[in-house]
Amino acid sequence: MNILAFESSCDETAAAVIRDGRQVLSSLIASQVEMHAIYGGVVPEIASRRHIEAIVPLAQQALLQAGLDKSQVDAVAVTCGPGLIGAVLVGVSFAKAVAFALNVPLVGVHHVRGHIAANYLTHPDLEPPFICLCVSGGTTAIVHVKEYTQMQVLGSTRDDAAGECFDKTARVLGLGYPGGVPLDRLAQQGREGRYSFPRANVRDHPMDLSFSGLKTAALNLIHHAQQKGEALNLPDFAADFSAAVSDSLISRVAAAVEQTGCRRVAAAGGVAANTRLRQDLERLCRERACRLWLPQLKLCGDNAAMIGCQGYYELLAGHTAGMDLNAYASRSIEQG
Ligand code: KG4
Repeated sequence: MNILAFESSCDETAAAVIRDGRQVLSSLIASQVEMHAIYGGVVPEIASRRHIEAIVPLAQQALLQAGLDKSQVDAVAVTCGPGLIGAVLVGVSFAKAVAFALNVPLVGVHHVRGHIAANYLTHPDLEPPFICLCVSGGTTAIVHVKEYTQMQVLGSTRDDAAGECFDKTARVLGLGYPGGVPLDRLAQQGREGRYSFPRANVRDHPMDLSFSGLKTAALNLIHHAQQKGEALNLPDFAADFSAAVSDSLISRVAAAVEQTGCRRVAAAGGVAANTRLRQDLERLCRERACRLWLPQLKLCGDNAAMIGCQGYYELLAGHTAGMDLNAYASRSIEQG
């Protein structure tokens, strides 16, 4: 079965063709990052307009690279949320038109479920159940993936997402947008222990997280140093900051393993590319005798291959959408 898939929830327009759920025949991404970097973050209207320009040629290119004709497309999958509403609407509207014109089923895919599915593309042997740490620019959640389309959110952030915390801190440091990669690179050259950052707990909810205190602590440290005319040691700052983010996430994964007894762990989303986090997950899983799956770095960020993969499993479960499929700015992972 060939699925033509689209992703347009934020600042990447992507199209892919996936065969039988796991084989990537083509995967193309038109990134808008350089455009948004000028403004220090994503400008929603610009994102929507860029998606409109990019999506038709990307779809044509994805079919060409897959060596398929339109008539060989068996279904269309598209991110229906969560995301920037105008941006998601572009993908949903286009996917609907394609499914209507080709007279094939349409599948709406939850963006975070797609990120989780990036693991299936990297690891052909991986099947649910497993615990998945989902960490991206807009989401931070610990998810128990019980079946391909049945998930339970064990904990999530009460405020900022982990990626947002990286991005906002990096912006104030003048490291550009998005900030996760430059902070990660700096952290490699730094030594931990110079700066102290909080690790927040949410009372009575051991698997929920909060990053707003860490973000405020980082911004205060930067502003105080600026006011005193002192230079921060950026590599050491990045190392201590990354350690604080990773520690907060790792302790929730440990709690999820403890509570569920599930000794199979995976990670998903842009922040899953973080070096310190990947090392800490490896250590935790060694210590707790858990098996760990991590997505390939190129599949951590937004792409359409992961949407096609999850779309395949949603289709098998009978989750097809009608022509009234809508776009959602927020949507629960459990609902799908
Ligand atoms: O999954 P993604 O591409 O988009 C969303 O669905 O949100 O995630 C983007 C986020 C950004 O906040 C970016 O700074 C962060 O992932 N990120 C990283 C790294 N690479 C990307 N954060 C920390 N370390 C990295 N290596």
